Amino acid sequence: MTFRQKHLLGIEQLRPEEITTLLDLADKYVDLNRRQQKHSDALAGLTQINMFFENSTRTQSSFEIAGKRLGADVMNMAMQASSIKKGETLIDTALSLNAMHPDILVVRHPHSGAVDLLAEKVNCAVLNAGDGRHEHPTQALLDALTIRRAKGRLHRLNIAICGDIAHSRVARSNIMLLGKMENRIRLVGPPTLMPSQIDQFGVEVYDDMRKGIEGCDVVMMLRLQKERMDGGFIPSEREYYHRYGLDAEKLSYAKDDAIVMHPGPMNRGVEIDGTIADDINRSVIQEQVEMGVAVRMAAMDLLARNRREQPNEGVYV
Ligand code: NCD
Repeated sequence: MTFRQKHLLGIEQLRPEEITTLLDLADKYVDLNRRQQKHSDALAGLTQINMFFENSTRTQSSFEIAGKRLGADVMNMAMQASSIKKGETLIDTALSLNAMHPDILVVRHPHSGAVDLLAEKVNCAVLNAGDGRHEHPTQALLDALTIRRAKGRLHRLNIAICGDIAHSRVARSNIMLLGKMENRIRLVGPPTLMPSQIDQFGVEVYDDMRKGIEGCDVVMMLRLQKERMDGGFIPSEREYYHRYGLDAEKLSYAKDDAIVMHPGPMNRGVEIDGTIADDINRSVIQEQVEMGVAVRMAAMDLLARNRREQPNEGVYV
């Protein structure tokens, strides 16, 4: 087995073989999840705590189901945005949680880097469920699994990532993962929604949607992250939809068998036309949700195995 991580903080730390190991195991969990009896005891006796300092429906429920299917005792902490105003609060929360001896901590936080910081303070395995604009590793892994199953491979594909790249941790993690697996990545969107150090990403950049998705195997749409904008990024939603919203006409520029992806939650009629999102011949949006549970099961299983093998490592407090 090639997976030497203690935590899953980002795609940045993973080697291509580790990504493949995780996806191979996730494939097995897809089979388990499709059975009537979905139970495994990979995490039996372990405690998993989900700490979401930012709203989430899909990711939190996906981690919760994943933990329960593996037999962990799962607890969801309701974190209110008001309790996280000071950096100290996060560390204090982490320390008191740590005293309860959890084995797995799943954390989402609005500040980039907050999850890495927390991982230094606790002695359990920490999984990043999204930190600010920084990383969302399980989303990139579930996207990779969806692509690999739909296209039969995860290399040498033309992949367009479209929309609000600047505010998106999903885009950052995907650019890293798909780049490590040697795909050709195009970023498509208005210059105002492109990150500043775009030239360091090793990608092609387009502000014309039709040119950007021309000949692509995968068209990945992103949500307009209004909560991370302080105004002035787009003229109006109507104008944005006209230029960058994925509809049948724009999609016709991609390959005939191109798949359409979106991490959710979707703004229908803003970044994507509802009929494209619901078209089961093109859209793999529901598969992405299904793959999410399997990928999170695989990630927690691998981290738990590593903990069993090195029980004394990682004691920092
Ligand atoms: C993404 C997130 O939270 O970063 N959603 C998700 O995990 N399902 C993308 C988004 O919020 O647009």
